[in-house]
This record gives sequence, C-alpha cells and structure tokens, in this order.
Amino acid sequence: MSKPHWRHARTTDLDAISAIAARIHPDLPERPEVFAEKMRLYPDGCYVLVAGDEISGYGLAHPWIQQQIPPLDGFLDRLPDAADCLYVHDVAVLPDFRGGVARVYVAEIEDLARSSAITTLALVSVYGTRPLWERLGFLGVAPDAALRDKLSCYGESATYMLRELTQ
Ligand SMILES: CC(C)(COP(=O)(O)OP(=O)(O)OC[C@H]1O[C@@H](n2cnc3c(N)ncnc32)[C@H](O)[C@@H]1OP(=O)(O)O)[C@@H](O)C(=O)NCCC(=O)NCCS
Repeated sequence: MSKPHWRHARTTDLDAISAIAARIHPDLPERPEVFAEKMRLYPDGCYVLVAGDEISGYGLAHPWIQQQIPPLDGFLDRLPDAADCLYVHDVAVLPDFRGGVARVYVAEIEDLARSSAITTLALVSVYGTRPLWERLGFLGVAPDAALRDKLSCYGESATYMLRELTQ
C-alpha cells in the first residue's frame, strides 16, 4: 500500500468524503451539501487523504470567529469578514490509515493560517479526542453558558479547543 498523503479536495471527492463521514460519525450526521459548501467557500482548507487510488480520510477547515461554533449539519452561508481563527471542522481518517496523518493535516492548516495572518486555530473535540488535540498543541476552553449551548449538538464529551500559533 502506498503511503497516504494529503491533497486539496475536489468536488468529485464529495461522495468519498460523505461515505467516510457516515462511517466514522454515525451519531453526528451531516448532509453532503454541507460539506460541499465548505469546499466551495474555502477550498484552501479542505483536503483528502489519498492512498493509492483510495480516499481514506478528509480534513475540513475554514476561517471563523473564536468562541463561535457553526452548528452541526448547518450551512455557513458566508465566511466572516473579520475572521480571527481557522476553525477545523473535522478530521476523519479510516482506521487502517491512521497514525501521524492528523499531525500532517494540522501542519498544513497552520501554514495556511500563517499565510492568511491568522494566529489561532480552533476546533471542537469529540469522542474523547481531547488528549490527541492537546498533543497537537490545542488547549481546552472552559465554556460559558453560551459556548456550552453551541457545543451541545456535538455530544456530551465535546470540548472547544484553541491553539495559539507562535511566531
Ligand atoms: C482523529 C484522527 C483523524 C487522528 O488521526 P491520527 O493519524 O491517528 O492522528 P496522529 O497520529 O497524527 O495524532 C496526533 C498526535 O496525537 C497522538 N495521539 C493519538 N491518539 C492519542 C490519544 N488517545 N491520547 C493522546 N495522544 C494521542 C499521536 O501519537 C500524535 O502525536 P505524535 O505525533 O507526537 O506521536 C483519527 O483518530 C480519526 O479519524 N478519528 C475518528 C474521527 C474523529 O474523532 N475525528 C476528530 C473529531 S474532533
């Protein structure tokens, strides 16, 4: 099996992305149109993991506002004018292809943020992945009532996390 590598997602990857999402996130379903909108609004942040001919994972990120969390399966409509973070919406990789690949995707997003003069990465950790994201430099944010409300659609263990990019 050839080594998996990330490349920018194309519209023709949408079926593969949706199939992986359905398999990995059965309890957090999102419509293909919602993925497609992110790919249209911010293709620079949308990648797929490719091994040989197979798409084995995806990562989706877009500019956003800190402490704001787009609702699950919701449209963004437009990107904010005054974005102050790159928000990693999701990284999902089929089990056989895991090991080191989330780190590589986050490094791509970090480079993208720096080249856009954005100094913070944000995400919602689900399924107890907080230690993994801490390993990649993210810190959990103690949620106030408003943030807790926005997190609720992502399940009980959902944690909002930020990573400040150093110079
Ligand atoms: C999240 C996911 C993409 C990670 O992919 P991966 O290739 O296994 O991740 P990486 O190996 O790059 O992990 C990044 C770092 O976290 C570490 N790590 C992995 N699992 C960990 C855990 N349970 N606790 C602590 N650290 C962990 C890795 O060792 C690595 O650190 P290192 O590079 O210093 O060794 C993959 O597990 C997945 O698809 N999970 C299901 C979907 C999901 O939960 N997505 C996240 C939504 S928030």
